[in-house]
Formats: sequence, C-alpha cells, structure tokens
Amino acid sequence: MILTVTPNPSLDRTYEVPALMRGEVLRATCDRMDPGGKGVNVSRAVAAAGHRTLAVLPLGGAPGALVAELLGAEGIEVAPVPVTGQTRSNIAVAEPDGTLTKINATGPELTAAESEALLTAVRAHSADASWIACCGSLPRGLGPQWYAALAARAHEAGARIALDTSGPSLLAALRERPDVVKPNVEELAEAVERPLKTVGQALRAAEELRGRGARAVLASLGADGQLLVADSGTYFGHARVEAVRSNVGAGDASLAGFLAAGGEGPGALAAAVAHGAAAVQLPGSVMPTPDDLDPAGVTVTADIPLDRVLTQPAEYAR
Ligand SMILES: Nc1ncnc2c1ncn2[C@@H]1O[C@H](COP(=O)(O)OP(=O)(O)OP(=O)(O)O)[C@@H](O)[C@H]1O
Ligand SMILES: [Mg+2]
Repeated sequence: MILTVTPNPSLDRTYEVPALMRGEVLRATCDRMDPGGKGVNVSRAVAAAGHRTLAVLPLGGAPGALVAELLGAEGIEVAPVPVTGQTRSNIAVAEPDGTLTKINATGPELTAAESEALLTAVRAHSADASWIACCGSLPRGLGPQWYAALAARAHEAGARIALDTSGPSLLAALRERPDVVKPNVEELAEAVERPLKTVGQALRAAEELRGRGARAVLASLGADGQLLVADSGTYFGHARVEAVRSNVGAGDASLAGFLAAGGEGPGALAAAVAHGAAAVQLPGSVMPTPDDLDPAGVTVTADIPLDRVLTQPAEYAR
C-alpha cells in the first residue's frame, strides 16, 4: 500500500477559457472540480495504476467534506483528520495555448493538537505502507521540522519515505535520510542556492542533496524530462509530447508512477516519465490511467546529456 500525506489539501476548480482578459466576464468552455493537493494527486494516480493507496489529510468545513466525497467517488480510501479551520479552495484558469493562471488560497492554520493528530494518523497506518509519500507545502501551524518528524517516525515503523516539498521543510527533512526526494528544477535551484541552466548542473545539485542526506533524488526537469540519482546509478529519462494541455500535477503523476513501479532503478524512472508525459496531455490535474500511458515513447539512458541546456532553466535570486 502507498500512503500519501497531504498536510494542506484543497478543493480545486479549473476553468478553461478561450483567453484570459482582466476585467471581463469570461465564459468557461470547461469547468472541473477536483480534490487537490500533491499527496491527493499521488493517491489518485497510484489508484489509477491499480495499487492500494490511502490518503491521510486534514479536512475541515464544507470544502473539506467535498474533498472527502470526491475522493470517495474515485474509490480512494481516505483517513481524514478533522480540523477546525476550513479546507482551502483554489482556482485555476487554463487557456488553449497552455497558459495557466492559478489563485491558491493559504489554507487553515492547524493547532498543535491537530499537527500531532496528523502525525498519529500517519503512524497508525504506517505498518501497512511500503511507501509514505509526503507531498506539498506545510500549512500554517506546522513548523519546517514537521516532515522531518514524520520521516523519523515512519522510518521507525519500517516504511520508506518519498518527499516532494520545497524550501526549509525539504532541507530540514534531509537529515532523516528520506528514501527519495522529488524536486523540480526550481525547487532544486532553491535548495542549492544557485541557478540551474543545464542537465549537468541539475545533476550536480541532485548529488548535493544526496550529500546532505537524501538516499535518492528524482529531479523533474519539466519538458526536458527527469533525472534519477541513486546509489544504484544515475539515469536520465525523457519522452516527447505533442501538445501540452496542463502541466498541473505532472510532477505528482511522475512520483506516483515511480513509486507504483517499485520506487527505484531505471524501470521506475521510465514509469515516472511516462506518467509525467501523459499527465501534461490531460486537462487540469487529471491523473493518467494505464490507457493514457505511452511507455514506448519513453527513453531512459545512463548516458546523461550533461551539456543539454534546459528548456525552462531555473533562476536563483537570493
Ligand atoms: N512541457 C512538457 N513537455 C513534456 N513533458 C513534460 C512537460 N512538463 C512536464 N513534463 C513531464 O512531467 C514531469 C514533471 O513535470 P515538472 O518537472 O513540471 O514537475 P513539477 O513542477 O513538480 O509539477 P507539479 O508540482 O505541478 O506536479 C517532467 O519531468 C516531464 O516528464
Ligand atoms: Mg512538484
């Protein structure tokens, strides 16, 4: 079973419009409502891949109830931790050229008791979990050490930890030796405090995170693909995509594909790339099903194109 933790889930509405114009009344050509949050996305994609998953998340108010209902309707098992604050609602506006404008709410502040209840809920289900995927930013009330505390407890329970977060909470958790971390190129640049312009620079940054404690790094490089840096070897994976519809959640789909395929080695990297490529061709944060995947379109190599300039390089400004 793959357990996911989403400390700051959301109710996500995506509107597709012909063009975004400030101050106008826009007619949506498509309108979706999805349970949101990075761990929630991972659970949805893991379930779509045919694996058992449990989503642990704090939920509050009417939006929280709707998130639970939508997940239930998708057949995803939820372990809700009730909180007093209201689960946030996020808005995304998608244009035909792929431009996405998002309005993300902050979300509720969790109390110390709620923070502890969330850790307890994870611990209660850890014994059944092969992987615990900790995903996304932390809500107010959870300090930057929260993922580190979770990783320490999960490791005691014998589960492996996959961590997809950024900033201080990523850095603080490295000392607990997470089994894999999945930064995108901006998150990687922020972690090493320098811009990343080439695949080789991203590789060196990933190696640095391993030096600071991460056992493996799955770095997603947007359109350029992904790098897996681990004791068992370093690999680069890539897939050609005809048309990008929405890159929201592509990283989450990738992590789900990686974990569902065992969470190590070139085969898992190929699954991660196949899931990312499929996700960007689907609207909103819709997660791919096996029918959406094109494994034949994926290439994985140990011959890393070090000098390749990234299509979307990461700037870093202190
Ligand atoms: N424009 C694109 N063209 C082709 N593949 C893409 C594109 N964008 C993303 N992908 C695929 O999806 C993977 C994950 O994307 P990305 O690096 O943007 O993750 P992310 O920023 O963590 O996303 P999120 O956090 O929104 O889920 C990439 O490594 C790649 O395989
Ligand atoms: Mg991401």
